[in-house]
Amino acid sequence: MAKNYLTGIKPTGKLHLGNYIGVLKNIKKIQEEGNCIFFIADLHALTLPIEPETLKQNSIDIACFYLAAGLDYNKSILFLQSQVSEHAELNAILQNYLYMGELSRMTQFKDKTAKTNNNSIGVGIFTYPILMACDILLYNCNVVPVGEDQVQHVELTRTLATRFNNRYGETFVIPTAQVNKVGKRIMSLSDPTKKMSKSDPKGDIFLKDDLKTIRKKIMSAVTDLGDEVIYDPINKPGISNLLTIYASLKDISVEEACNHFKDCHRYGDFKKEVADVVCEEIGKLQERYNFILENKEYLKALEIGKNKAKLLANKTLKRVKKKVGFIDE
Ligand code: TYM
Repeated sequence: MAKNYLTGIKPTGKLHLGNYIGVLKNIKKIQEEGNCIFFIADLHALTLPIEPETLKQNSIDIACFYLAAGLDYNKSILFLQSQVSEHAELNAILQNYLYMGELSRMTQFKDKTAKTNNNSIGVGIFTYPILMACDILLYNCNVVPVGEDQVQHVELTRTLATRFNNRYGETFVIPTAQVNKVGKRIMSLSDPTKKMSKSDPKGDIFLKDDLKTIRKKIMSAVTDLGDEVIYDPINKPGISNLLTIYASLKDISVEEACNHFKDCHRYGDFKKEVADVVCEEIGKLQERYNFILENKEYLKALEIGKNKAKLLANKTLKRVKKKVGFIDE
């Protein structure tokens, strides 16, 4: 039977190459393999302070980039999380089946709140994984394609689903996280020991950066004093990151990428070749993005997607309400 795939992106900042390699680049492939649902996690975006206008613009951007990356809205579903109220409703129910200790152990929660006083941490950042579990469980999905940083959340979703099924009988499909073999964690160009994230203007390649800027960022990426292009994430994190980016965009293994550069002993030449590949891919993506934005194609896609998503989500929610003992409307 065809598998059900689901994944989401949070509109908290500008999309970057990590998001592209981690998720967007795979859209065409998974769309051929199964039923796909893609959404914009705008409820999740409120977990950290954000201006309303920024949230709106970021959400439109993500919709356009999903489409630019190959999402076919006649085949797959694209929607905004806030427009399918079943997510919030299931959240209210499922929050009772995860424990404070489990949520406290989430790496993302610990990272995002490490330097903040408890009195100014919103509760939403703590309960974030519950809503994420609801996103996944509402659609009976088997596979959740994500970057490595989200795997822990999918694991917790499995724990929650299993716990609920054990208590009330078979209700949820148990999902599995799917990460790329190459490019499961793209690192910052300015500090390759840190993940590329939406809030790192120096180390990020933003999908909307002009190609000149992208080239400049790659040419000045932090590397090391040597001259060998080899994959060694511990001792050569910068070179290894650039090799991963190259391999991923060329759809080859890291070994093949290393082999390609085995006679290259000038980092400048290596970086130029990486920049060529990135600029070619992102250039094409940007052309499609501009066309979709100008023609407002995303509006139609989101409208169709919302209705399809609601139908599926409502079915699951009804099933859950019945299981826990709510009286049918
Ligand atoms: P978000 O918005 O932080 O990131 C979107 C996707 O991009 C991946 N990603 C990366 N992959 C490789 N290298 C990187 N440097 C990198 N940075 C980000 C992320 O792993 C993610 O797959 N919680 C999610 C959004 C979400 C979700 C869901 C995802 C909400 N509900 C349900 C899947 C299923 C998030 O904040 O992703």
